[in-house]
Amino acid sequence: MDNPHHRHIRSFVLRQGHLSDAQSRALEAGLPRWGIAYQPTPLDLDAAFGRSAPKVLEIGFGMGGATADIAAARPDTDFLGIEVHGPGVGNLLKLIDEKQLSNLRLIRHDAVEVVDHMLAPDSLDGFHLYFPDPWPKKRHHKRRLVQPAFVAKIVSRLKPGAYIHMATDWEDYAIQMLDVLNAEPALRNSVDGFAPRPDWRPLTKFEQRGLRLGHGVWDLLFIKR
Ligand SMILES: C[S@@+](CC[C@H](N)C(=O)[O-])C[C@H]1O[C@@H](n2cnc3c(N)ncnc32)[C@H](O)[C@@H]1O
Repeated sequence: MDNPHHRHIRSFVLRQGHLSDAQSRALEAGLPRWGIAYQPTPLDLDAAFGRSAPKVLEIGFGMGGATADIAAARPDTDFLGIEVHGPGVGNLLKLIDEKQLSNLRLIRHDAVEVVDHMLAPDSLDGFHLYFPDPWPKKRHHKRRLVQPAFVAKIVSRLKPGAYIHMATDWEDYAIQMLDVLNAEPALRNSVDGFAPRPDWRPLTKFEQRGLRLGHGVWDLLFIKR
């Protein structure tokens, strides 16, 4: 359908969720400072961060714990995080303050629209997608983010040599990710099949528990040609 007003299938269901007092305070104080408003026009990333440095996009940072750890461990890289969930945005703003991070900016909006309208071609050095909603029911698979058209769009926003790093604890989604990334001609796998967890991705609490229970986690690391 060519109608530009036709809403695309969303990869999330917006639950308002409870905001703690600290998260509300962080939203109020932090969003004007570290947030970038959604706008349907290209964003000047260097201007948004106030410097010229490698830029990495993350979609769906959840409560933002891993995002804050990664930004703290890689101060020479700028991270743009996108999330629709209010308490998560509030929590990451709180972490930015606690950890005194200056290399993180947040957008509270549907990431698909942000990628479509705000990010210029060849503008990113990396892309992170950690534990995206698995949409386990077959009739919901169309809501999964990792599909050929979405990956092609992300790849178009990456510079040559930039990386894509994904992780999931759903085996059939991991296989779908591997198939979709392998089928994208502009990408090459950095390893044969699934990748070892890179040092920069911290083990989440949820993941530690899952690993103790014998659940698997699959990482994927691809490079744009
Ligand atoms: C299962 S959670 C994982 C969160 C986090 N990455 C982690 O590992 O704990 C997936 C997150 O992606 C967010 N999300 C899904 N689709 C999104 C979209 N199109 N734009 C922005 N956020 C999205 C959801 O709100 C949710 O918080």
